[in-house]
Amino acid sequence: MKITIGSDHGAVALKDEVKMVLKGYGDIEVKDVGTFGTDSVDYPDIAEKICADVVSGEADRGIALCGTGIGISIACNKVKGIRCALCNDVFSAKKSREHNDANVLAMGGRVIGPGPAGEIVRAWVETPFSGESRHVRRIGKISSIENK
Ligand code: RB5
Repeated sequence: MKITIGSDHGAVALKDEVKMVLKGYGDIEVKDVGTFGTDSVDYPDIAEKICADVVSGEADRGIALCGTGIGISIACNKVKGIRCALCNDVFSAKKSREHNDANVLAMGGRVIGPGPAGEIVRAWVETPFSGESRHVRRIGKISSIENK
């Protein structure tokens, strides 16, 4: 699996933690689109880079981080084809995959610590989309909204 990850200055430490978790799988290719320091950057710019990789197929999924996870998740969800889920718990992470086929996970570096974040990432990476018809139908309706 290929994952593109990025954060603004509010979640650089969390980005490094998440990269360690992903490295632990051994078969996940990670592309980091920054930011790499504490200088202030604008999260929509990071969101665009992550989502460009996901919609082009260069990445299978994306992980988007900012201080709260809110701003970057809002920005990601403006990109056609992106279903970004802001998850601060394992249950939501699993359901975002099973029910919503979320292709981007967002978290907040000022909201959750590295331990819970690692569990959320593992749950999100390992949980497949259920493929159940009602969920397929609902995701189709999301796409219809995008096309209006
Ligand atoms: C940056 O200070 C902060 O606004 C950003 O990381 C995020 O929390 C926005 O939603």
